[in-house]
Amino acid sequence: MANPAFSEVVAEIRRFAGTAADFASLQQFCVDLIAQRLPYYNWAGFYMLDPGDENCLVLGPFHGAPTEHVRIPVTEGICGAAVAQGQTVIVEDVSADPRYLACSLETRSEIVVPIRARGKIVGEIDIDSHTLNAFNEEDRRFLEECGEVLTQFLEK
Ligand code: SME
Repeated sequence: MANPAFSEVVAEIRRFAGTAADFASLQQFCVDLIAQRLPYYNWAGFYMLDPGDENCLVLGPFHGAPTEHVRIPVTEGICGAAVAQGQTVIVEDVSADPRYLACSLETRSEIVVPIRARGKIVGEIDIDSHTLNAFNEEDRRFLEECGEVLTQFLEK
C-alpha cells in the first residue's frame, strides 16, 4: 500500500485483535487509531445491523463529532446503500449525492465498507472526510483489510 500508515494501522489492529476482550473494544481501538493516523479521516465509526431488525443499522463505536444518525434504515443514506449493494461505496462529493444523510456540515466525501461474518453482512465501517474526493482505491483496500481483521475476530 502506497501510504505506509495503511500497513502500520492494519498491523496494529491485527495485534490488538489478538488480545481484545470483546468486539466493542476492538471496534473502538480501530476507529480511534484510524482517525489519529490518517488526518483526512475526520470521522470514523461503525454501524452494525440491528439483530432485532435486520433492516436497520445502529451506530456503534465512533471517533469524531456526535451524529444524530444513530439508526439508519438500510434503504437510506450512503450507509444503507453499502448494505443494499453488498459492497464498498465511495462518494467523491457528498453534496452531489441525493442518498447522503448529513452528519457534519464540513463533510465533503465519504467511504462505507461492509463487514461480513460467515458470509453475511453484519455491519460496516463509515469514514467521512472534510476533503473533497478524499478516498481512492488504496483507501478502499486498506479499509477492507481492516474489515477482514474484524471478520476474523467475529468468526473465532
Ligand atoms: N453520511 C451517512 C450517515 C452517517 S454520518 O456520516 C455519521 C449516510 O449518508 O448514510
